[in-house]
Amino acid sequence: MGNLKVTYTDVKGETRIFDDVEEGTSLMELAKRQGVEGIFGDCGGGCACATCHVYVDGDWFEKVGPPDDIEFAMLDMVADVMKDNSRLGCQIKMKPELDGIAITVAPSSGF
Ligand code: FES
Repeated sequence: MGNLKVTYTDVKGETRIFDDVEEGTSLMELAKRQGVEGIFGDCGGGCACATCHVYVDGDWFEKVGPPDDIEFAMLDMVADVMKDNSRLGCQIKMKPELDGIAITVAPSSGF
């Protein structure tokens, strides 16, 4: 059990707060474990499916940083719902600097 906080808004608009997230846990793993709707993580975190697509809310995106080229290419495949603050949840690992982060599950684009 960790002590990092994540505010997750699922694909239906329901917001849940998790405040015992362990460092190193990805946002995809957290969502799967807690049953956050709309996150599937089909490839198991390999940056190869985009079923863990999230939007990083507000100023948090700057802290998280932009996707690398491989991740961007995956996100580009869901371009119809991709936004400037899109990231793949499996590529964001929790760390103290991200304590309190707020994210929203992106709508699936038919994968
Ligand atoms: S779980 Fe497949 S890309 Fe994140």
